[in-house]
Amino acid sequence: MTVTVLVENTAEGANAGLRSEHGLSLHVAHGGMAVLHDTGASGLFADNAAALGIDLARVDLAVLSHGHYDHGGGLERFFEVNDRAPVFLRLTADAPHYARSMFRRREVGIPRDVFERHGGRFRFIDADTEATGGVFLLTSIGRTHPWVRFNRTLGALQEGRTICDDLAHELAMTVKLPDGLAVFTGCGHQGVLNMVDAARARFPGVPIRAVIGGFHLGGVVGKNVLVEPDESVRGVGEGLLERGVRMTWTGHCTGERAGRILKDVMGDRVAFLRTGLVIEL
Ligand SMILES: [Fe+2]
Ligand SMILES: [Fe+2]
Repeated sequence: MTVTVLVENTAEGANAGLRSEHGLSLHVAHGGMAVLHDTGASGLFADNAAALGIDLARVDLAVLSHGHYDHGGGLERFFEVNDRAPVFLRLTADAPHYARSMFRRREVGIPRDVFERHGGRFRFIDADTEATGGVFLLTSIGRTHPWVRFNRTLGALQEGRTICDDLAHELAMTVKLPDGLAVFTGCGHQGVLNMVDAARARFPGVPIRAVIGGFHLGGVVGKNVLVEPDESVRGVGEGLLERGVRMTWTGHCTGERAGRILKDVMGDRVAFLRTGLVIEL
């Protein structure tokens, strides 16, 4: 399997031609199939794909990790360059979503018009689904480990009122490789450890070869009371090691501070996502 980071918050130094944004998009080539995992916040992922020599017209299927703009904002551009791949997503990923602060709410969902214009391209799921050979979309994610505090700012709509987001629009993509599983977290809103445990429950005894994606451990210390405490970030790193995860690549919404703590706990077993990074598994 080859994973190419089409867009992430930071750019790989060696690839000066690539640009970054707050968002995530991964191209996953596996077993003769090309999977697009998220589309970033804009069409930038497609510009970067062209610069990297990746032909998005040949993507066989796309997966949307959850219904936030920084993962689905590039969908319109994807449909411009690809006229065939279905897009798998959870049932409520097309609903309005918000980030709330004390005084206002900000829209963070995916603009509705793309769903209206391209309705036939979407495959809404609400149960664990094998999208194609070896690519599993897990919807049954437990809550054994507490959700990250930062989630408390997230909202959804119910009968015209903003309620806490239950994150039921999020899935964990898991790819079965010859020597284990690769778990893709997207933003990891429901907790990377809960997602890894969902993969272990679905495939008992199969080792976790890799975890790739954001962990949503960001937040500015001193400004945001919802910042994740150091000890719980350490717990995430320790939990990944305890579960035998061989290698973790994280970034996007993990945040620099959490990244430093994870590095301290995990050493060589963690590395950071960058626009243009290529991971061979
Ligand atoms: Fe995100
Ligand atoms: Fe998100």
